[in-house]
Amino acid sequence: MSRFWSPVVHTLTPYVPGEQPKILNLIKLNTNENPYGPSPKVIAALQAEAAETLRLYPDPNADRVKGAVAAFYGVQPTQVFVGNGSDEVLAHVFQGLLRHAEPVLFPDVTYSFYPVYCGLYSIQYETVPLTAEFEIDLGHYARANGGIIFPNPNAPTGRPVPLAAIEKLLQQNRDSVVVVDEAYVDFGGETAIPLVARYPNLLVVQTLSKSRSLAGLRVGFAVGDAALIEGLERIKNSFNSYPLDRFAIAGAVAAMEDRAWFDQTRNAIIRTRSDLTQSLERLGFEILPSTANFIFARHPRHDAAQLQQKLRERAIIVRHFRQPRIKQFLRITVGTDAECKALVEALAAIIG
Ligand SMILES: Cc1ncc(COP(=O)(O)O)c(C=O)c1O
Repeated sequence: MSRFWSPVVHTLTPYVPGEQPKILNLIKLNTNENPYGPSPKVIAALQAEAAETLRLYPDPNADRVKGAVAAFYGVQPTQVFVGNGSDEVLAHVFQGLLRHAEPVLFPDVTYSFYPVYCGLYSIQYETVPLTAEFEIDLGHYARANGGIIFPNPNAPTGRPVPLAAIEKLLQQNRDSVVVVDEAYVDFGGETAIPLVARYPNLLVVQTLSKSRSLAGLRVGFAVGDAALIEGLERIKNSFNSYPLDRFAIAGAVAAMEDRAWFDQTRNAIIRTRSDLTQSLERLGFEILPSTANFIFARHPRHDAAQLQQKLRERAIIVRHFRQPRIKQFLRITVGTDAECKALVEALAAIIG
C-alpha cells in the first residue's frame, strides 16, 4: 500500500498464474504447458536471430507473423492482430471492443483473467452459469450485453461448445462483439475462424503457448473482421509499439510454418489424454469430456485440495481452484506418457 498509488491500483484484484516452481525435477502438470519442446525449426530460427541486428527495433507490425497466421488459416493479414501472448491480446480486446454501456457476459466458471481485465478497465460484467454438467449453454446468453467472451474449449473444464451453437449465437447477437478464446482448440476442437468471413462481430483469439509449445516466447493472435483488428491496432499503438521482439517474430513464424511438428505433437497429447482419462476412471475419478490439453477430474470420495497436497509431496504438481462450484476438481495438464504414468501411480498409492 502506498499513498503514491493511483486510485485504481487500490481496487485491483490481480490474476494469480499457476506456480512456476524453482525446484527442478518436479512433474509439472499445473499450467497446461506442452510437454514436448517447440519445433527444431523454431530453435534454429531463434539461434539465427541472436545476431548484431538485435540493436535494431523489431517490426512494430510483426508483418511476417501476421502473414504466417493468415496463410495458415486462409485469411487476409489485415484480419490478424498479434500480441505478447494471448493475455495481452485479450487485455486489448477488453479495453478496445468490450467496454460499453451494457455488461460483458462470460461463464461463471471460466478463465479467471476475464474479471481481472474488467476490474482494470472498469467494465461491468455478468456471469452466466454453466449447466449442471459444466457445459456452456450459449442459449443462456440471449440478453442485452456489451460483448460476450468464452473459451472454446472452456477452461478449466475442457468441455467444448459445438461450432453450430456459436453460429446460432452470432445470428442472434449482431450488435456486440463475440470473442471465442481458442487457447486450447488445437487439441480436438473446431476453430470458429471460418465464420469470421460471415460475421463482422466475431473475434477469435489463439495462442502459440499451448499447441505450438511456445509459452516462454509469449505470442498470441486474434483473427476477425479488418475493422475489429484496426480497433485493436489503435489500442496497441497507444500502449506499446513493439509487443513482439525479434525472437518472438522469428520463432512464431517458424512455428506456424512447421505443420508436421504441430500435428505430431498435438496428436501425441490427444492420445495420451485418452489413456490418462481411462486410467483415472479405473481409479474411480469422474472426468469431464475434454478437448483440451488438460483434464478436469474429481473423485467422489477424496477431497481435491488434499489430493493436490499429497501429489505435491510426491513432486507432482496439478492445479486446484478454491472456487465454489469446482473446488472438488483437479485440473491436470496432459504431460508425456511417462509423466502421466507417474501421476496415475501416485494417485493409486494415495487413494489406496
Ligand atoms: C483460456 C485461456 N486463454 C488465454 C490464455 C493465455 O495464454 P497466453 O497468454 O500464454 O497466450 C490462457 C492461459 O493459460 C488460457 O487458459
